[in-house]
Amino acid sequence: MLDIVVMVSGGGTNLQAIIDSIKSGYNKDVKIVRVISNNKEAYALERARKNGIDAVTVSPGDYKDRESFNEALLKAVDEVHPGLIVLAGFLVVIPEKMVKKYENRIINIHPSLIPSFCGKGCYGIKVHEKALSRGVKVTGATVHFVDAGTDTGPIIMQKAVEVRNGDTPQILQKRVMEEAEWKILPEAIRLFSQGKIILKDKKVIVE
Ligand code: GRF
Repeated sequence: MLDIVVMVSGGGTNLQAIIDSIKSGYNKDVKIVRVISNNKEAYALERARKNGIDAVTVSPGDYKDRESFNEALLKAVDEVHPGLIVLAGFLVVIPEKMVKKYENRIINIHPSLIPSFCGKGCYGIKVHEKALSRGVKVTGATVHFVDAGTDTGPIIMQKAVEVRNGDTPQILQKRVMEEAEWKILPEAIRLFSQGKIILKDKKVIVE
């Protein structure tokens, strides 16, 4: 059984996709042992509670400084001994100490085809605004390992999504979620649980 921690900040539709993939048996060898959010209002926490999953908030505002927050965040993860940490719309920088401790065991979903439209400050709806502003005809989503950078870790999976005439950032975001994010994130977790994701020279080979 692969125990995973899912880290969230918002609505939790990617978390829901993971929950649904476990319920359907697609991810029968995976168990979400804790959901962690920096935002106590995140609906993702409600999704966790509705499914009997331990849901905790670790918010920067509750700590005197960033170092104390970082320690508390790492403790909240360590306590449940995950084999994999999944960032599903988590908007807080992962502490360096945590990246090192869980090297190649933290994955992130980003709503573009990295290396396009990613990096510091490029997240959520902004990604789709940039894609439309550039006029790309194809965008999509990426699952990648988390390293010390922002959206710079080895790419695990990507899925393309067409951009259509008249798309607004909101319409495009929804299509990318439905057609790409909610598919490749559960699939990447399944492959990881089966030991099929091989890292060689910072490149991913999926067996
Ligand atoms: C998703 O678009 C994801 O790609 C990005 O943040 C958003 C989170 O949405 N990292 P949700 O909370 O999973 O609904």
